[in-house]
Amino acid sequence: MSEHEIKFQKKIDAEVKIEPKDWMPEAYRKTLIRQMSQHAHSEIVGMLPEGNWVTRAPTLRRKLILLAKIQDEAGHGLYLYSATETLGISRDEMTNQLLTGKAKYSSIFNYPSLSWADMGTIGWLVDGAAIMNQVALQRTSFGPYARAMVRICKEESFHQRQGYELLIKMCQGAPIQKQMAQDSINRWWWPSLMMFGPHDADSPHTGDSVKWKIKRKTNDELRQAFIDATVPQAEYLGLTIPDPDLKWNKERGHYDFGPIDWDEFWSVVKGNGVCNKQRIKDRTKAYEDGAWVREAASAYAKKKKKTAVAN
Ligand SMILES: [Fe+2]
Ligand SMILES: [Fe+2]
Repeated sequence: MSEHEIKFQKKIDAEVKIEPKDWMPEAYRKTLIRQMSQHAHSEIVGMLPEGNWVTRAPTLRRKLILLAKIQDEAGHGLYLYSATETLGISRDEMTNQLLTGKAKYSSIFNYPSLSWADMGTIGWLVDGAAIMNQVALQRTSFGPYARAMVRICKEESFHQRQGYELLIKMCQGAPIQKQMAQDSINRWWWPSLMMFGPHDADSPHTGDSVKWKIKRKTNDELRQAFIDATVPQAEYLGLTIPDPDLKWNKERGHYDFGPIDWDEFWSVVKGNGVCNKQRIKDRTKAYEDGAWVREAASAYAKKKKKTAVAN
């Protein structure tokens, strides 16, 4: 280990945050760029399945809530892109990686949102799973990432609650509404568990990420915490979790659960999910449609700089 590396690790061990201008190992920088940009992409691609339902929200109140949530996700994308830029990669480069398939985003957003109940389930399970991950990331070792997470977490807990409240209403409604809610959990439960990523034993990045305190908890720890927190919430709704092996394990003090279909996970990650192509098509269109805004903004910045120099 070089002197730089020893100093770096000492800082991490002492819980001192690493800031953009500090020395850092190249692998630390690369891991963060990969993880943070993937996180940013997930925020903005995650707007698409919900955007699908804005014009079909059943009431004005629901529409306002959904719009506000989707707007929050755009904001999360922006904080995260900005935080990632401090590591020496440009926003354009990151966007290019997303649109060309070089960078990934959470595979859950490649599933379609088929009914209004999905707006509840996405908030409850998908944002719920994201929160588990993000609460731990508030203490991640890279300063800009940790600070972005503090603000994001506050908004995420609102997202989860609005989703759960939507489902409570549906479960108290007509039998067909409750059935819609059940069908929605049946479709989203397993993909939500996959959001935590492969089992620790199969996760190539876990070792270094834990040593560098980028990851404060492993994929399996977070997944278990999510299941333990979520099962009682499903019981309260009167809905069944689609896992016949799910049961409380007294000795472990945790729920046991059935095997996850990793073939499905990898197939979706590799581009074979129902919506992969549509999502990238929509993001590409959004990027192209926004070209005039970027041009206008940089022309304005140039003009301002000129006036500043002249004065
Ligand atoms: Fe978010
Ligand atoms: Fe969210």
